[in-house]
Amino acid sequence: MYEHDVIVVGAGGAGLRAAIAANEAGADTAIVSKLHPVRSHTGAAEGGINAALQEGDDWELHAYDTMKGSDYLGDAPAVETLAQDAREDTMRLEHWGMPFSREEDGRVSQRPFGGLSYPRTTYAGAETGHHLLHTMYEQVVKRGIQVYDEWYVMNLATSDEDDPNDRECHGVVAYDVQSGQIEGFKANNGVVLATGGPGQAFDHTTNAVSCTGDGHAMAYRAGAPLEDMEFIQFHPTSLPSTGVLISEGVRGEGGILFNNEGERFMFEYGYANNSGELASRDVVARAELTEVDEGRGVDDEYVHLDMRHLGEERILDRLENILHLAEDFEGVDGLVEPMPVKPGQHYAMGGIETDENGQTCINGLYAAGECACVSVHGGNRLGGNALPELIVFGKRAGRHAAGEDLGDPEIRTGYGDDVEDETETDLPVQPGAAGLERSGGVAADGGVAADAEGALERAVERERDRVDRLMNKDSGVQHAEIRSKLQQAMTDYVNVFRTEAGVKKALKIIRECREEYQDVYVDDPSTTFNTDLQQTYETRNLIDVAETIALGALVRNEFRGAHWRQENQIRDDENWLKHTLVSWDDGEPSIFYRPVILEGEEKTYEPKERSY
Ligand code: FUM
Repeated sequence: MYEHDVIVVGAGGAGLRAAIAANEAGADTAIVSKLHPVRSHTGAAEGGINAALQEGDDWELHAYDTMKGSDYLGDAPAVETLAQDAREDTMRLEHWGMPFSREEDGRVSQRPFGGLSYPRTTYAGAETGHHLLHTMYEQVVKRGIQVYDEWYVMNLATSDEDDPNDRECHGVVAYDVQSGQIEGFKANNGVVLATGGPGQAFDHTTNAVSCTGDGHAMAYRAGAPLEDMEFIQFHPTSLPSTGVLISEGVRGEGGILFNNEGERFMFEYGYANNSGELASRDVVARAELTEVDEGRGVDDEYVHLDMRHLGEERILDRLENILHLAEDFEGVDGLVEPMPVKPGQHYAMGGIETDENGQTCINGLYAAGECACVSVHGGNRLGGNALPELIVFGKRAGRHAAGEDLGDPEIRTGYGDDVEDETETDLPVQPGAAGLERSGGVAADGGVAADAEGALERAVERERDRVDRLMNKDSGVQHAEIRSKLQQAMTDYVNVFRTEAGVKKALKIIRECREEYQDVYVDDPSTTFNTDLQQTYETRNLIDVAETIALGALVRNEFRGAHWRQENQIRDDENWLKHTLVSWDDGEPSIFYRPVILEGEEKTYEPKERSY
């Protein structure tokens, strides 16, 4: 067994930042990650980091833009913390040596991004995430923080009190990908989950294969609710054949979207008469698909993004990476022809419910970054707001886990007296299916049942048994078959445009996947580098997370941010200024709601019509 004060799970931007902060606060800190840190998906972030750094801009404007972008589902205390702290935390990156792009006079450059009222997106070419990871990894190495890389965290070790608010997280169980060994990691102070997004729940995504919602699923099964999972961002410019991201930075620099008739449709058809291509992402993604649905798409599938008029010099200076991606993955030379683009799953606005200090309702369990929902993004995240979230809330979670007093949070977590139960929707989730999960099949689980003392050892035993069962079973279904069925259902029915009937179909298929998973087996007998085994675990996580996304999409019968519902295409502030929470209640998902907090430090963000 390994033992540290703070265990950070995941080594992307949020994980590295949390580990640095915990270390600075004096805690013996370790990172446990299924990937080497610089291979984390943060490295794929292209566009940049929003921070109000220049004269003429200020954090209040950043907060306002973020609340508007969120379609008034962001919690003001979190949004204001983001906007305030992003300034200092971005400058700290610069002091750590992050190679930001610069103006002739040496000042750090900032460019326009969708939904921003000021050009406040700081960037390093179109490879901002790559440089962010390397800059922070250097700090981790410099501080001597222990990194257990290629260790896959399989589960949390929590106590099993009836009320999740009384539970305690004592550590994690992880699988050493290189040796096949399964060990416990005891956390004396806290565990910080920083495991990224669940993009692999979808078939067409900008996310890496590693984005399998592991932290979401482990926290959920341990009793922490998942919040606002229905809000999935579809980025307007992914390459059609692979989902590879073409940065919003292209439009930020002046790139233009055209339909198959050569029309600049964002203006031509009035989708966003003021901001055009730089409207917020949900608006542009819907516009593109409407063009395709109305017969004005190219090859009935995508639209064109043209940056040729920017000129070779500027493109090479600020967007060189985009040229390589378009060439390598689509065979298109962006200097001489427009690039094909269509919406692709990109980001989950929702996640593990936390307060401003990163804490979940389970004592000692924290979450930060994309796997968390604090909530700053609400119904729609603005481009360039993911990276500041990583550094601001990664830092806070790390400090708090290390024992620093950050003050009382205003955001509440867990089931309590301020919540409202879901009573109205006919949920097509059959009781009994989860009972199957607990029947001792290979997928048996539903929270770690153990007292506080023995939680870790028993959690380790449980995972060793599970692996034995998976490896000793010599036939059944392979995870890949279940995973692709799940991904297809989510892409077909829980995409940009959603209907009640479609989401119910998705839920039915997800349930089938859950049942088929009872018969899953691992074909590869290797004890080392057994990716078949790891992906079998990940697929189980994807099933749990996909179900929460679809359930949220079903109950929220309104149109807000990235969540569009055919049956009710208006934002319904009277009934829906509230967060959706899904919790794992004795093996079944149960749903409740908590009101959004629109009161900031000095003002209340009154919901207004959201136009760009
Ligand atoms: O388009 C982009 O470069 C992505 C940025 C983001 O998601 O924040």
